[in-house]
This record gives sequence, structure tokens and C-alpha cells, in this order.
Amino acid sequence: MISGRAPKGSLVSRAALAAACAVVLLANTNTAPSGLFPGGDARIAADDANWVTTGRSYDEQRFSPLSQIDDSNASRLGLAWYADLNMSRGEEATPLVVDGVMYVSTAWSVVRAFDATNGKPLWTFDPAVPRSQLVNACCDAVNRGVAWWRGRLYVGTLDGRLIAIDARTGKQAWSVQTTPRDLPYTITGAPRVIKGRVIIGNGGAELGARGFVTAYDAMSGRKVWRFYVVPGEPGKPDGEVSDPQMATARETWSGDAWWKQKAGGGNAWDAFAYDPELDLLYIGTGNGSPWNRMARSEGKGDNLYLSSIVAVRPETGEYVWHYQEVPGDEWDYTATQSIVLADLVIDGKKRKVLMQAPKNGFFYILDRETGKVISAEKYVPVNWASKIDLATGRPVENPEARYSELGKPFYGTPSSLGGHNWPPMAFSPRTGLVYIPTQELALPYVSDPAYKKAPLGYNTGNRLGASVPQLTSPLKEAKGYLMAWDPVNQREVWRAPRDTFGNGGILATAGNVVFQGTGTGFFKAVRATDGKELFSLWGQTGILAAPMTYMVRGKQYVAVLAGCGGVYGSACNLYGKDGRHANLDRVLVFALDGRAKLPDAPAAQAMVLDPPAVTANVATIAEGDRQYALRCAVCHGYRAVSTGNQPDLRYSPFIADPDNWRSVVLDGLLANAGMVSFSKVLDHDQAEAIRQYLIAKAQEQRARIKGEKGTKEQKGADEPVMHAS
Ligand code: HEC
Repeated sequence: MISGRAPKGSLVSRAALAAACAVVLLANTNTAPSGLFPGGDARIAADDANWVTTGRSYDEQRFSPLSQIDDSNASRLGLAWYADLNMSRGEEATPLVVDGVMYVSTAWSVVRAFDATNGKPLWTFDPAVPRSQLVNACCDAVNRGVAWWRGRLYVGTLDGRLIAIDARTGKQAWSVQTTPRDLPYTITGAPRVIKGRVIIGNGGAELGARGFVTAYDAMSGRKVWRFYVVPGEPGKPDGEVSDPQMATARETWSGDAWWKQKAGGGNAWDAFAYDPELDLLYIGTGNGSPWNRMARSEGKGDNLYLSSIVAVRPETGEYVWHYQEVPGDEWDYTATQSIVLADLVIDGKKRKVLMQAPKNGFFYILDRETGKVISAEKYVPVNWASKIDLATGRPVENPEARYSELGKPFYGTPSSLGGHNWPPMAFSPRTGLVYIPTQELALPYVSDPAYKKAPLGYNTGNRLGASVPQLTSPLKEAKGYLMAWDPVNQREVWRAPRDTFGNGGILATAGNVVFQGTGTGFFKAVRATDGKELFSLWGQTGILAAPMTYMVRGKQYVAVLAGCGGVYGSACNLYGKDGRHANLDRVLVFALDGRAKLPDAPAAQAMVLDPPAVTANVATIAEGDRQYALRCAVCHGYRAVSTGNQPDLRYSPFIADPDNWRSVVLDGLLANAGMVSFSKVLDHDQAEAIRQYLIAKAQEQRARIKGEKGTKEQKGADEPVMHAS
């Protein structure tokens, strides 16, 4: 019934391709890459043993034809080697392997090369991203991968540079700044190289940014085209290929708040896919900036091209079609989640489709030639819309969901974290199933009527993390599971429950195996057809990234990055059953009969709760609560509880002394460690109020620990509430 993208061409052309690959191999190891031969593209299209682009191939299926490890022997998997990355932040990249060398990007946009058979480090390229840039990142200093092309690697950095690196030596070939330095842009997504163009997006919609995608010449770094996702100032064309589309898109925006704030959003921070036959590059666009549509566009309009799939020509950036999944988004429902291309037989007809399980909870199948929606069904519980009207392609909205217009909070499911977020899904043409790292949780959307764009930090127009006691969550508790979804019939086939929401991306293989790491640090293999668990190993640290697989000298390996973080303080919980544990970022590589062993996990570091007495009055503490929620919670945890990488400030020695406190919070004492001065948005009294609030919360905590012997709260059970991405 279902066929994957059949390998193109006859045996002859496959052989020609193989020969061509060999030529490239020589070109790579010897001299400058040959300008005549499109070897980079050919390898990305068809190469079994290697993993040459982030989603393995341009269709981003993350399906490997390797089958040495299969459902009959996966129980024999073991650790083949591991490498410490000497960091403790979120790790989100899919490694690449080309001709025996593994390339990984890590937090802070560092790129490293290892011998793929034993983990021997070959080189490290550190772009020296200033740690103060952390405050411009919505979701940690993460990086989701590098691109490889003709012996070069390409990485986007957290501070907006695109850098070409010689894959053999790790030396920089060129570097360009792709974003304005004075605005809060970041790059966390993997570049893609198509027809000699390096395609790169950016993030920033939580902070206040206007999204765009740029293509650079892979050889020289020269800019070739730029496509803006949302319009800028009326009457002022950008002089870019998107100008005609921006003129039409402007009709769907209201007022002037979005462009006066240099915002609007739509940032394409992750998913791209490419169809070489149709010659279409598919761009997944992001949420509105600010989130709140009242604050952004007078509460009106579809606000094109937010939350859309936009198809353009990769060489020129020329627009071909778009499909908007969420008109007038105000729920952070990005369409930046994995875009997967496949050929499916639907109603007896072979269709070229594009599949996506975006944050908004509907699984979309689009005709990728025309952009018309073929079907869209809920893959998780959804309450913002009842269905997608296939005739118009538009959602049938729940009127209650328009919180900014109604001035009334809305408990949305999916939440801003999505039914599925960036951890990539995979499609197996062998089973015809899509494997989705799925999660269910609801969060309140609360409009901030006093919203004004701040010069530092988050700018959503909402009160993130506000408690809404008058509303009850439509979902009692958050959960996560690996789900197998039949895209043709739009229905769930099986699910494998996980301990928590926020789990890793997916790899599917021809061995009938699906691989996934979990947020609690297990690496698992399950049978692709029914989800039966075949293998599970605790890797000590939460896994969010997607695994990949490769073969060197006849042996198949499976690799994944471990590292807790990402969406601040919520994607990952560093509290296990024995208390807080260390966050040990690593490459973990598995093979049949692997015998490597991780050293024992270090003992949990004791946290000392020693707050001074509460002296402030109730009004001051309330003001501190407000300021903390607005400026600090995103990194240090909602309601002063941190379960992630940033210190839990109730336990911080800095709350004991007002001068020390000020030196960190207002004078930037720890700026080089990622904790910048907040003097742009806080005066002395406000900073002091935050300290007083934290003292009160610490005292509350102390009383609770005395009452409960610490068990519950030590594990971060006090509603560690989540937010954006
Ligand atoms: C963008 C993320 C981010 C935001 C937002 C943020 N911080 Fe931090 N903060 C950090 C990081 C990272 C560290 C750890 C620095 C280090 O390793 O020493 C830190 C450390 C601190 C420390 C030192 C804690 C200790 O015991 O070592 C204090 C105090 C602090 N932050 C206060 C605040 C306050 C108050 C706010 C809000 C006004 C705030 N932070 C907002 C990232 C952030």
C-alpha cells in the first residue's frame, strides 16, 4: 500500500553514482573540492553506510537502509565507545558520519570530529560564542547539527554566524554574520546544503525578531538570496527575493506594532526538506513575535507566513507555494517540527506528500507539489481547534482559545511545548509508519495587558508561568510516549510509554528497529512493527537528540548525543530518584556485543538551603514574584523551582547578601558564565524585591522539607512549569 521514495533510476545510474562518490572521496582527502562534480548532492541523495546530512537524506526520513542490527539481535547491543563532551547543557545534534569520521556539534556551537570506530578525538573547532549570548536564546545554548558538503562542514552559531570548516583539519574556511548583531537572533538549527547553497534559518521569536532564511554560496560564503518570513515596515521593500510575497503578506497584518518592534517572528529555526525532482525547498516557519496577537497585530489577521510550510526554489529563493497551519498564531504553535517527504498510496493513488506533526497537535499530509492539504488529524488531544476543514485548509477554532482578544486565560493543549517539538520524527518506508516522540501537556496562555517590549530577554506579551487557579488543566498530568502513526489512515498503531514528557528524537532502520533516547537517560531500541522493547541501557544523562546509524568496515553502529537542557529548565529534569545528578554531555555509540562501560556516575552534589530571615513586606515580595516571573523564571525555573541546568536560586548563597546579589544581577559579575546584567530591565528596588521573594520561597521550602523530610520537593515536585520553545 505504501511505498517509500523508491531509489531513482536504473542499476546503471546507481553504479554511476557509486563511482561518482568514489571520485568525491578522493577529492575530499586530497585537494580543494572539485567545482565540476555535484558529488555533495549525490551523496546526500543516496549513501547507505554514511550519514551525510542531518535527516540522513534530503527527504529527512531518518530511515537507514542498514540492517545488520535487526529485531532479532538488537538485544545484543552494548556500548561500543563513548566520548565526553566536557559540557553540561542541552545536546540536540544528530551526528554526521562520512567515511569513518564522525562530526558532531555541541552546545555553544562547538564542532568536534572523532574516529567513528573508536571515539578517538581528531579535532575541535570552537567558534568562541560569547556566553552572554545565552540571554538571547529562547531555549539554551543548543545546536542541532552540522552540514557536510564536498569535504567541508557548515555550522550555524548561537550568535548568528555561519561558518565553513575544512572537514579534514577542523580549520575555518570562511565565516559570515547572518543576523543583525544588535537584535536577539540565534542560530540553533542545522544548515542544509542544496545545489551548492548553504541554507540557514534563525531563532528569536520569543525575544522579538523577524524571521528569515538565507542562502550562501558554499564555496565562497557569498550571500545568494534571503527570504523574509514576515513583512517589515510598510512601503520599504527589503530588496530581497521575498519582496512580492511580503507585499501580499502585509495585508494579513494589522496596525504597526510588529514592525515598529522589529519583530513579527515566523523564525525558521529548525525544519527544512528538499525534493530534487520537484526542485522545491520546504521551509517550516515559526510562531508570532510577540506571541500575543493583540499586542502584535491588533488581534486581527492571519499574519502570513507564521506557522506555515513555504516552498521555494533553492537556487534563487523564489516563492512557489505556501500552506499556513495556524492562521493568526498566538499559542507558539510553530510549524518548525520535522518535515518528512515520502511517496504514499492514498485512495489508490500514489501521492508525493509532505508530512509534519507540528506543535499544534494535528498530523498534516500535504501534496508537496501544490501545497494543498490532503488530510490532517489529531495525533494528541487538542482543544484549540476541533478539526482542519479540508475544503478551506483552515482550522475550525475553539473561540475560547483567543485569549488575547477575550482577555481571558486559556488552558491550551497542546501547550507551547507542542504535542511534538523539535526532537525529530522518523518514517520507515518498510513499515509505512511514522515514529513520533509525542508528549501531552497543557499550559495556560495568559495575556499581559501591561506588555511593552523589553530591551532584554523574553517578549511574548504573555505572563508565562502565571498560575491560573480559576482554571483546571484539561489534562491531569504531562506524559510522553513514542508513537507509531499510520499516515495513510491517519491513526495511531502503537505507543511505547516513557517516564516523562520531553524525550529524544527517532531513528528507524531497515532492520525493523526504532531507536530513541529518553529524557530520563535511557537509550532504547524497539521493534518497528509493534513497539516491543528490544534493548534499554541507562546512559546516566537525559537524551533529547536523535540517534543516527552508520557502517564502517562492515560493522554497524548507532550513535546519539546525551545532554540535558534545551527548553530552559523544562525539557529535562536533573532529579532522579536519588536526588539531583550531574549532567554529563557525551556521545554514546552502540554496536552488537559492544563492551565499553561508562565510569560510575558521580554522586549527587549536595545543595545547601540556608536563607536569611524574611524581612520584606508582602507588597515587596509580590513585586519580586512578578519581576522574577517576567525576567528570571525562563532560565531559573517557574515559581523559583529549578530542575534543569540553571541554579535553583532558593539555594543560592547570593540571596544572603544584597551587595553580592546586586553584583550578579545588576553588575554582570557572572556574565562570562551566561548570567548577564539585568540593569537594562531592573532597577535596584526591583532587583532587591526579587531577592526578597526568593528568600520567602526558600523559607517556604525549608518549612516544607521539615514537614516532608524533603522527599517530594527535593525532586522538584513543586510544579516545575514549562514554557516556550
Ligand atoms: C538566559 C538565562 C538566564 C536568565 C534569564 C537569568 N539567569 Fe541567572 N544565571 C544563568 C546562568 C547560566 C547562571 C550560572 C552561571 C554560572 O555558571 O556561574 C546563572 C546564575 C545566577 C546566579 C548565581 C547563582 C549561584 O548560586 O551561583 C544568580 C544570583 C542569578 N543567576 C540571578 C538571576 C536573576 C535574579 C535573574 C532574573 C533577573 C536571572 N538570574 C536570570 C542564566 C540566567
